[in-house]
Amino acid sequence: MESTAATKLQRAGNELGAKTTYQLFLEREGVPALGGFHIEDINHIELAPWPRVGGRGVYLNLEGSEGVNNCYVCEIAPGKALEPQKHMFEALIYVVSGHGATTIWQSDGKKQTFEWGEGSLFSPPLNAWYQHFNGQGDKPVRLLAMTNAPTVLNLYHNIDFVFNCDYRFADRYAGEDAFFNGIAKIPGEGFHDTNFIRDVRSYELPERRDRGAGGKMLMIEMSNNVMSAHISQFPVGTYKKAHRHGAGAHVIILKGEGFSVMWKEGDDIKRYNWRAGSLMVPPERWFHQHFNAGGEPARYLALKPFSSRKFPGLRKQWGTSESVKLGGDQIEYEDEDPRIRAMFEEELGKRGVTSQMGPIYRAAS
Ligand SMILES: [Fe+2]
Repeated sequence: MESTAATKLQRAGNELGAKTTYQLFLEREGVPALGGFHIEDINHIELAPWPRVGGRGVYLNLEGSEGVNNCYVCEIAPGKALEPQKHMFEALIYVVSGHGATTIWQSDGKKQTFEWGEGSLFSPPLNAWYQHFNGQGDKPVRLLAMTNAPTVLNLYHNIDFVFNCDYRFADRYAGEDAFFNGIAKIPGEGFHDTNFIRDVRSYELPERRDRGAGGKMLMIEMSNNVMSAHISQFPVGTYKKAHRHGAGAHVIILKGEGFSVMWKEGDDIKRYNWRAGSLMVPPERWFHQHFNAGGEPARYLALKPFSSRKFPGLRKQWGTSESVKLGGDQIEYEDEDPRIRAMFEEELGKRGVTSQMGPIYRAAS
């Protein structure tokens, strides 16, 4: 019943020609917007001139983001800078390739600049000015940003407000000298509060047993955002437990080779193969599960529009490390569909990799 009503409402909206403010914004931006379920390799997406920003770019509105958040990929030409900008949405920026620097300032405040390179992660504080520079004269820089622009633009339905609001959020960033020095505060186990990570591909991670497979994981919060991130790594010959949560967690594979399966409860599973550079977004409440099928540990970065521990309350907190049998959102190894284990073993067999799951299943049962 409920879905029929939703379909009728959506149809009524379309008949009226209603577009969301975010859709209108994309039309004004003039760069292409890609949809789809996942991106094979973020290093090789085609970009187009982007006049507002002063570089080249593309927007990504992948299905699993469900209108909550988006990504863009942006290129800075060799030796060039992008235009200064500020906005009322949050952005987590991952450096896909190249080296450079970003200058950050509040209106009337002093500027500070920090350098970054391939693998860096940072976030310009909300509504602070920032400008990116390419530090090399012979190579472009490629950045990927995950933002909550769709939510914020549609909430206020006023593009001018979102890009031209003068309020300074000094509670988020008041020009502190050490803000981008990369030294993390550690408010709890497995949790770093930091505003700059030099290289997420080599950042040291603590052990995290409850998510399976002898993996390592670190939760990250930056720039007093409501958005958050985590880095996860799991060993050769292993796979993680299936779990589910809200829309918009953008998973970027940093190292390794393997595949993921995703499914909506009651539906058939979908499978996606990945390698370093792949990007995927599990849709709202779809179970998903990651498998390392290659010869090295697999590591990924997840950029999420939710799960801030410093500023909770934006969205439901998910029980991602508690069994579905106890009301949580994780499927324990002993409860999974036997086809899952068979699929993993078949893939390892093809590649000549030995499964390391034996002791992990035993420890879990
Ligand atoms: Fe997830």
